[in-house]
Amino acid sequence: MAPDQRHRTPAAVVCGLGGFLPPQVITNDDLGRVLDTSDTWIRSRTGILRRHRAEPGTATSDLAVEAGRRALKSAGRDGEDAVDAVIVATTTPDRICPATAPAVAWRLGLGTVPAFDVGAVCSGFLYALVTARSLLASGAARSVLVIGAETYSAILDPGDRSTLAIFGDGAGAVVVRAGTPDEPGAIGPAVLASDGSGSDLISVPSGGSRDPFRAATGDRADPYFRMQGKQVFRQAVERMSECSRQVAERSGWPVEEVDVLVAHQANLRILQAVADRIGMPRERCHVHLDRVGNTAAASIPLALADAAGEVLRPGHRVVLTAFGGGLTWGAIALTWPDVSPA
Ligand code: ACO
Repeated sequence: MAPDQRHRTPAAVVCGLGGFLPPQVITNDDLGRVLDTSDTWIRSRTGILRRHRAEPGTATSDLAVEAGRRALKSAGRDGEDAVDAVIVATTTPDRICPATAPAVAWRLGLGTVPAFDVGAVCSGFLYALVTARSLLASGAARSVLVIGAETYSAILDPGDRSTLAIFGDGAGAVVVRAGTPDEPGAIGPAVLASDGSGSDLISVPSGGSRDPFRAATGDRADPYFRMQGKQVFRQAVERMSECSRQVAERSGWPVEEVDVLVAHQANLRILQAVADRIGMPRERCHVHLDRVGNTAAASIPLALADAAGEVLRPGHRVVLTAFGGGLTWGAIALTWPDVSPA
């Protein structure tokens, strides 16, 4: 090995991709039969037509295992040595304790690899991917399975039309391996950020240490997911636009040379506003939410798996961006590899 190569920091290269959606489909009309809502409202305000829902008894790890298995297959890897670490990004872990990732790693037959969860709500997958990149760059791992998986149906208020209409269940995953920065699939510049002053805008109020169930009495206990949608909307547009522009600039790509924007699938109006604001034609912003809704941490890998079968070509310049509870946000630039979802 040449001396300059020996000391070069490895890049993280995407080499496998997979997604999994539970089979049950809930249409807008299905929701309209049980709630005061309609296909017209949901379609025009969000762009969502349907979403998938896990059957009772199906947990986030069940979806994560399926997506993980597909990503490993797509990467052509199996057995105990398939990857050196597993990271699961989720807002809806199987249980508050322990983390979901160790059970996922074990069920995938990955031996005793390090496995841990990342909690950054809808930005979780990007946080997990940047964490995986750091493991590869430090030499702590040569390959990492990164999964975004959610079962939002478990935390939605059955009477809250504003969240039931939006969220869906699912999981998506990528395998990243150590490689060189100039090969297709290499993850380039990344931005991650947070603003905890907005932590009440998206939350599950009860069940954590702030308001544990044993202390929560009567009406005060609220175990459901709550979102101040209107207040979040504006920030989602601003933050995703800002950091998408930053990573494109740091990559030396004029925005008009970015081939595909894969943004967190929160709302069609948000995706269109981000595209408009950064000066990108709307059709380059991949839309998957019409068929799956907002799947939180699973949204970006699921959208990637969908786009890989449709619009993504090897060598394409891709920007990923997300915004979510915390508040958290981020963006990553990468060139697209020659990889097909399994
Ligand atoms: N059907 C019919 N009416 C509804 C529905 C529904 N499904 N949901 C809300 N409404 C009503 C409201 O009750 C309200 O009625 P009111 O005026 O009588 O009070 C009216 O519609 C307007 O409500 P808004 O909340 O102002 O509606 P808005 O147009 O803002 O759309 C939405 C709501 C879709 C949630 C939007 O605000 C949004 O997409 N916000 C951003 C979400 C986001 O990006 N989140 C961050 C990532 S997600 C995460 O981190 C987990």
